[in-house]
Amino acid sequence: MRAPLEESDDRIPHDRHRAGILEHGSVKLLTDSGVNGRVLSEGHRHDGIDLRFDGRSHRIDFQDLVGESVWLYPQNEVFVDLAAARERDGGDVRYGVRDTEVLDVTTDTSKIRVTEADGTEIEIHCRILVGADGSQSICRKAIPADVRTDHFIEYPFAWFGILTEAPPSAPELIYARSEYGFALISQRSETVQRMYFQCDPAEDASSWSEERIWDELQRRVDGLDGLELKRGRIFEQMVLPFRSYVCEPMRHGNLFLAGDAGHTVPPTGAKGLNLALADVRVLFRALDSFFSTGSGALLDAYSDTALQRVWKAQNFSYWMTSMLHTRSDATSFERRRALGELAAVTGSRYGRQYLAEAYTGGPDN
Ligand code: DHB
Repeated sequence: MRAPLEESDDRIPHDRHRAGILEHGSVKLLTDSGVNGRVLSEGHRHDGIDLRFDGRSHRIDFQDLVGESVWLYPQNEVFVDLAAARERDGGDVRYGVRDTEVLDVTTDTSKIRVTEADGTEIEIHCRILVGADGSQSICRKAIPADVRTDHFIEYPFAWFGILTEAPPSAPELIYARSEYGFALISQRSETVQRMYFQCDPAEDASSWSEERIWDELQRRVDGLDGLELKRGRIFEQMVLPFRSYVCEPMRHGNLFLAGDAGHTVPPTGAKGLNLALADVRVLFRALDSFFSTGSGALLDAYSDTALQRVWKAQNFSYWMTSMLHTRSDATSFERRRALGELAAVTGSRYGRQYLAEAYTGGPDN
């Protein structure tokens, strides 16, 4: 038997860039399904966020507004928990496969072919095939172009992300809009912090000195309250481009897409992993019903059911992104209008409540 997975294991993607915010429904799914309760013992509950503009912070108090919270627990930790649960359950997981081919998904001989890490070629016959293979999905390509619609938009900006050895600069996350562009002050632990600022997608991250990065982040959160970021050594810096994308339908024959294979969202609002887990919840119910009763009704409804939530999250992520980022070619009207929108949202209990509900996961879990 293989040794249990640990953080240093090669099989775990060391992608610490992934967002760390889990909706309450995602936390419930991980704990109720027995995957792990580590999210509760090692994650951090956050009862609100700050929206910052015009040099002032405006708290969105999730508990007061909708009686919910989110948990800060990075995606690589979720991966460790999922992989460990699969091993515990005796699941057969092949890491490091290549040359994947997905074949005959509309026939009763659906199969995938892969070359294993040791060079062996294998073919797996599947009654149901779940394509949960990320934004560069190979499975998605098995849906022919004439039945698939690719909805997407590109954004004229990216995020410059850093990891730094420093104490938290604030108790909760700060989403800031400034005349210099967006910044997000997030966290990883008491000693490691995660921060981002809006940049040009063609920016060369390695050309930035630590001092320049800190000065850029600081000027985006500067304000009358004297908020000062706690600086530390930066040990990772990278540019993260993003876009909005939905593949419709998310099912073709025996193939079911889940997570980033079916849709990607811009990172503002941290919906990506939460949406993937929501797909899994819908798909689980459909598979459970199919294998226990033989009825394919929920499988037939999978794409429409999943897409309902996907489009709401697309709207939220697009809205948060456009409200908080500044286009370099924005006119003075557009810049002032965006501040008007932020003032309208934060100045109204209904506005704050809408944001709080969507950020924490909404009513339909
Ligand atoms: C993080 C990323 C996000 O996109 C977000 O909205 C909040 C937090 C993060 O990496 O911590």
